[in-house]
Amino acid sequence: MKIVSVVGARPNFIKLAAVHGAISSISDHSIIHTGQHYDYRLSQIFFKEFNLPKPDFNLGVGSGAPGYQMGEMLKRFQKILDRDNKFDIVLVYGDTNSTFAGAFCATRSGIKVAHVEAGLRSFDRRMPEETNRILTDHLSDYLFAPTAAALKNLKREHVTGRVIHTGDVSVEIVRHAVKKLLPSSQILRSLQLDKHHNNTNPYILMTIHRAENTSSEEGMISLIRACEILAYNTRDLKIIFPIHPRTANFLKHMKLYRRFKKCKNVHLINPVGYIDFIALMKNAKKIVTDSGGVQKESYLLGIPCITVRKSTEWVETVEAGGNILTDTNTHKIVKAVKDWNPPSRAFSKRSVIFGNGRTSEKIKNSLMQ
Ligand code: UD1
Ligand code: UDP
Repeated sequence: MKIVSVVGARPNFIKLAAVHGAISSISDHSIIHTGQHYDYRLSQIFFKEFNLPKPDFNLGVGSGAPGYQMGEMLKRFQKILDRDNKFDIVLVYGDTNSTFAGAFCATRSGIKVAHVEAGLRSFDRRMPEETNRILTDHLSDYLFAPTAAALKNLKREHVTGRVIHTGDVSVEIVRHAVKKLLPSSQILRSLQLDKHHNNTNPYILMTIHRAENTSSEEGMISLIRACEILAYNTRDLKIIFPIHPRTANFLKHMKLYRRFKKCKNVHLINPVGYIDFIALMKNAKKIVTDSGGVQKESYLLGIPCITVRKSTEWVETVEAGGNILTDTNTHKIVKAVKDWNPPSRAFSKRSVIFGNGRTSEKIKNSLMQ
């Protein structure tokens, strides 16, 4: 059996890392990188950390408006399929433009599509990820649903492919990182957040990059004001912010970058690799984010998550009490950082929500069948 994974952006690589071993054990597994992400810290670093093979093809698409970016992906992926259409299954991950482009091209070329992380819905069509998910799910032949809510969404939409409840791939990748990789991380030491530097003060970890936030000047000002208020009220609480290039570009364009940098408590750093990021998450007091992946990883690590969005696809983490939605509302963010504490049993449902960490094996078995 020949399986090809199509990936292109940071969260795609991390999900690929979780299943690569299992897929390679049953098939000749090729990797196509669309080139959507290309900075070392958003792309190659993950191949290195997880010992993933160099992609068989890199389509080198790069950045651009959605139509251009997706058009180039389709054109360049199609060329490979026309030249060498030997694949039985195209495997796609999550909800990025690379995910949908991979599913669309494969379907049109008569190749079966399997979707890892199928069925998630935020019910917010402003998010490009939402349309990518819906379209990909309706094209897929095999849909690997991570949660019960995802399963329910797929039933309600009457998708035509076969739906399999697998649990979420993050369980095994987070477990692997915590058990095997964390000792090699130097990030806490280098940011002087460890005990050697007498640091007894907790910190907040923040990531913001989603399109709906980084295209809103008002939203970004509201977030900066929250950081400014926190700097005034809780002087010892640092905010560590590995900033996505999209966010940095937008802040610079809006002349807001320097205002952010001036917040005494905010420590802006470049995006970090997975091992360092898990180390930062695991030791944070709370996490402030608009990321999809970070919401579920913070739940798995038992760290309270403040989600700077109107809605989430990871609804179970909110229902369990480990995650709250604040949108970009200054007051709600400040209150959540200062006063909100999850109920004591908030994080006790990890395996009920995300499964027992055998997701890659279940995916492998389904593909073999
Ligand atoms: C994409 C995904 C999003 C995911 C995120 C993960 C889509 C629609 N969005 O968003 O779901 O959460 O990846 O991080 O697929 N840029 C660089 N260097 C890079 C890549 C991007 O500087 O290596 C900058 C460019 O200015 C680019 C901007 O970031 O225009 C946005 O990149 P893009 O890949 O279009 O979307 P993301 O915001 O990264
Ligand atoms: N992540 C990382 N380094 C960072 C920020 C995030 O390795 O500096 C990881 C994080 O642990 C998670 C994934 O990137 O696994 C999430 O990617 P992102 O937030 O970019 O995308 P989303 O999940 O929102 O699509």
